[in-house]
Amino acid sequence: MSQVAELTLDGKSYQFPVIEGSEKEKAIDIAKLRDQTSYITIDAGYKNTGATQSAITFLDGENGVLNYRGYSIEDLAEKASFLEVAYLLIFGELPTEKEYADFEYEIRTHTLVNEDMRKIFEGFPVNAHPMGVLSSLVSAMSAFYPDTQDSPDLTSLHIIRLLAKLPTIATWSYKKSQGHPVNYPQNDLDYCSNFLNMMFALPVGAYDVDPVVAKALNKLLILHADHEQNCSTSTVRLVGSSHANIYSSISAGISALWGPLHGGANQEVIEMLEAIKNDGGDIQKYIDMAKDKSSGFRLFGFGHRVYKNFDPRARIIKKAADDVLNKLGIKDPVLEIAQKLEKAALEDEYFVKRKLYPNVDFYSGIIYRALGIPTNMFTVMFAIGRLPGWIAQWKEMRTNKEPIGRPRQVYVGPAKRDYVAMSDR
Ligand code: ACO
Repeated sequence: MSQVAELTLDGKSYQFPVIEGSEKEKAIDIAKLRDQTSYITIDAGYKNTGATQSAITFLDGENGVLNYRGYSIEDLAEKASFLEVAYLLIFGELPTEKEYADFEYEIRTHTLVNEDMRKIFEGFPVNAHPMGVLSSLVSAMSAFYPDTQDSPDLTSLHIIRLLAKLPTIATWSYKKSQGHPVNYPQNDLDYCSNFLNMMFALPVGAYDVDPVVAKALNKLLILHADHEQNCSTSTVRLVGSSHANIYSSISAGISALWGPLHGGANQEVIEMLEAIKNDGGDIQKYIDMAKDKSSGFRLFGFGHRVYKNFDPRARIIKKAADDVLNKLGIKDPVLEIAQKLEKAALEDEYFVKRKLYPNVDFYSGIIYRALGIPTNMFTVMFAIGRLPGWIAQWKEMRTNKEPIGRPRQVYVGPAKRDYVAMSDR
């Protein structure tokens, strides 16, 4: 007989089915809890709540495992291209040569963005944060491609458009911040090289994409490509569950990612490391501040909701950071601060007790800096990487016809009372 969970409430006993995932994760299915008992569960921050059964990404926080559709992140980061991984996440299997060629061709030939989008972009102030601009412009795409609502084909052109145009749009903010004209995509370049060309080429001379830089970017994008039900992905699924179009859903995910406790941490990490450097390199001062709850300061790039041993992405990124800096011949003093800070934190009882380890964002900024990406674009890079994951999760949610997401609450405000006329208050 399959396992059941028993609950005793008000002297009555109830049974709920236990379900098991393909990697032996267990969950109590409480879908009928309220119907049968009139109780609900409370779980602030969803620390124990599974929102869905998903076949996309497996994550084992205790053992530092991350697999996309069964393939380990270590294997994919070493051997695959970002678009191959995007295909895997979105369509469920690694593409054959023909499938890959068709997919890549479609993306290559949809990189150009409607000129009227540029007019919207021109209205943003020069110092606007690129994440705000990105989220707004992705939302604006729904106005340019309004046929989304009726599209029965969830693998349609909208997915291609998003993957193809996000890098183009992303480079506009950087170009504007530099006072340089934006670059049009060049469809003879691969995905990562095209992005780098749009970022760094100038009309006054030739720009050759450094293969070391393109390869590092490919790896970083793969490492960020999906991470199951995190804050931004859950946002995408929740917004999409009302059958909002894919552009609005992804735009909401970009906004969620921006927060410093989530993807925005990569910008915060570098700013923190810079601050430590400019403060004379006093690492202990910052460790003490992070331990002092009244300071309001956290060690950015440390801690994770799920990983309680190590973040496998952080391991790969740390090594990649070393490689990239060596190959490019860059000596970044901030890397040394990061290494010292990591060592000091990992030896400190506060961090050990709470199982706080470096996360994906701790070293990613150091590589982005080496690649010439400015600090306020770090989270945009994360968004470009995460896009296939958001798309895959959105598509899975719609394909499985999941119900609209609508959590409940326990009301703790005033009990019912009578209205008091203003003159009597
Ligand atoms: N610095 C200092 N203390 C920390 C940190 C940190 N970076 N992270 C967690 N803690 C402490 C908390 O104060 C808490 O202590 P307590 O038990 O004494 O109250 C304990 O560790 C548990 O922390 P929670 O906030 O309850 O853990 P949660 O799972 O809710 O948060 C999070 C995870 C948001 C990632 C948190 O560790 C954090 O804020 N880290 C810094 C921001 C960051 O790097 N975010 C990127 C995460 S990866 C990503 O989103 C891509």
